[in-house]
Amino acid sequence: MSAGAAATAAYVVAALLTVMSLAGLSKHETARAGVAYGIAGMAVALVATVVMVAESIPAGAVALLAVAMVVGGGIGLWRARVVEMTGMPELIALLHSFVGLAAVLVGWNGYLEVEALGPAQTTVAPELLGIHSVEVGIGVFIGAVTFTGSIVAYGKLSGRMKSRPLTLPGKNALNLGALVAFAALTVGFTVAPSLGLMIAITAVALALGWHLVASIGGGDMPVVVSMLNSYSGWAAAASGFLLDNTLLIVTGALVGSSGAYLSYVMCQAMNRSFLSVIAGGFGVESGTSASTVEGEHREVSADDVAAMLTDASSVVIVPGYGMAVAQAQYPVADLTRRLQERGVEVRFGIHPVAGRLPGHMNVLLAEAKVPYDIVLEMDEINDDLASTSVVLVIGANDTVNPAAMDDPASPIAGMPVLRVWEAKDVVVFKRSMAVGYAGVQNPLFFRENTSMIFGDARVRVEDIIKAI
Ligand code: TAP
Repeated sequence: MSAGAAATAAYVVAALLTVMSLAGLSKHETARAGVAYGIAGMAVALVATVVMVAESIPAGAVALLAVAMVVGGGIGLWRARVVEMTGMPELIALLHSFVGLAAVLVGWNGYLEVEALGPAQTTVAPELLGIHSVEVGIGVFIGAVTFTGSIVAYGKLSGRMKSRPLTLPGKNALNLGALVAFAALTVGFTVAPSLGLMIAITAVALALGWHLVASIGGGDMPVVVSMLNSYSGWAAAASGFLLDNTLLIVTGALVGSSGAYLSYVMCQAMNRSFLSVIAGGFGVESGTSASTVEGEHREVSADDVAAMLTDASSVVIVPGYGMAVAQAQYPVADLTRRLQERGVEVRFGIHPVAGRLPGHMNVLLAEAKVPYDIVLEMDEINDDLASTSVVLVIGANDTVNPAAMDDPASPIAGMPVLRVWEAKDVVVFKRSMAVGYAGVQNPLFFRENTSMIFGDARVRVEDIIKAI
């Protein structure tokens, strides 16, 4: 079998492994296997590509390729090992920016190898030249939007940039104008390719990506990250067309469509239309309504909570971003076991956008060995909350905010939330009366059946375990 045929066979295997990986990642129980399939698929694809490419390039270039792979792989391993769970979304955003940059470079390379040489010198058949130019234009455009958009998302998620949305006058017209300009420039480039048009397409796309994400604020970042995930997939697929690499087209399309579907599911979880998210604006009002809720809150001690829990027949734990910050999942898992030993029914209620990335809470709880069967989705547990003795809200805020249901003027109005206030007693763990991610105050804290326990969630849960 020739190296080319072997590589094609390897590509089919890699594509199947990618499909199996996505299928595995869709359930807790099979997520680990899904990751393993993904790693295997990538390894097969990488080896096959290098073997195939090595046939047609000089030995020096193969050595350079090996050095680049070792250095890149080393940096990747190092970053992935040191990243905190709370820093994962920004790492993902940064990685998307690399896919975008790679697509831009592939597009430019395509231009320099074909269009820049002129029809007389290129090896591309004249009747295919137009298609090639369209591929270059689209590839560079998607790549550049992904590149700058992901950098802004990284800046916002890591706190290096303000999470408030940028509100330039006529921002929707600016975005639309950039799209129209891209279409016109690409048509121009296809008719008569030139360096000037290539630069113009790249510049418009870089500016659009920056503006698009900068205009989106606070609470909509989860959707933006998954939208950029989708863009990075389409950028890879566009590169696949240019490089004539079917595996890149298949895996890019899989990542692109699964990212788009995840964005759709998340928009549903927040009761928002995808277009309204992309048009930005959520969080514009953040801060204005932050101080409008006022009232008395009640503070309790760890001993009080311990007494409440030991008297309870059923407990639901609702974790949020604060549990991740405090790394409180281990004492929370310990508390769960102790309560179960005393015959208390303990379950977890997970909001689809709790924390800072999809599945954030599920990963933390799995890490602390909380059994999957007591970890329920919001829709599975919401109707049971009214018959629950005690709900422990551990570092969650926006996802349990009744204003989303009661206050049409709230910036998070319409977002489905966990109706924790329906339980007999609610205990909220946080360090202060500060607002959550969307920047809005939470009337839950002032309800009669709610009590607050202040301090780091990990320390407080450990105190409760001691008291029990
Ligand atoms: P948030 O609304 O972000 O609230 C987290 C709470 O945890 C804060 O009120 C904070 O209060 C508390 N906290 C922080 N550190 C703590 C610690 N060490 N100990 C105890 N409490 C601590 O959390 P949520 O309910 O999980 O909501 C998630 C929000 O993030 C939503 O608005 C969502 O749209 C957004 N978001 C989600 C994602 C994804 S995909 N999940 C991605 C980006 C953004 P104190 O400061 O007073 O302690």
